[in-house]
Amino acid sequence: MIKFFLNGKEVSTEVAGDMPLLWLLRDSFKLTGTKFGCGIGQCGACTVHIDGEAMRSCLMPVSTLAGRAVTTIEGLGTEEHLHPVQQAWVEQEVSQCGYCQSGQIMAASALLANKPNPGEQEIDQAMSAIICKCGSYPRIRKAIELAVKAQS
Ligand code: FES
Ligand code: FES
Repeated sequence: MIKFFLNGKEVSTEVAGDMPLLWLLRDSFKLTGTKFGCGIGQCGACTVHIDGEAMRSCLMPVSTLAGRAVTTIEGLGTEEHLHPVQQAWVEQEVSQCGYCQSGQIMAASALLANKPNPGEQEIDQAMSAIICKCGSYPRIRKAIELAVKAQS
């Protein structure tokens, strides 16, 4: 049995240790905000926080999670109290088809947690790692700049 923290609550699972976290989140915990894109670590749609770092859940075996803290898009904010990045996303109407967006928001929120005032280049570099086929990057950058202002 593997115990870890999921969106602030201790949970346990008995799935095979080599199952990717993405499968566990979506199939066992029904947290479907985290998306399957490529399954091979290339697109970033499956990005979650593990101990505060943005990580690709499709590459993360469940066996590595013991005692660690996993946060998904469902645990980032609440409907009443959106995370500043989520609030900025709404205000800038960032989402287009929406498929990549939970990965984008998890990457952006980890960026701001580690670097509260990133420059334009740092934002573009961090966010280009999450593929958006709709090309929402200009709005993503504006939203992150808005979230930086809201946090300061
Ligand atoms: S689904 Fe994980 S990086 Fe694409
Ligand atoms: S909003 Fe459609 S893939 Fe990013």
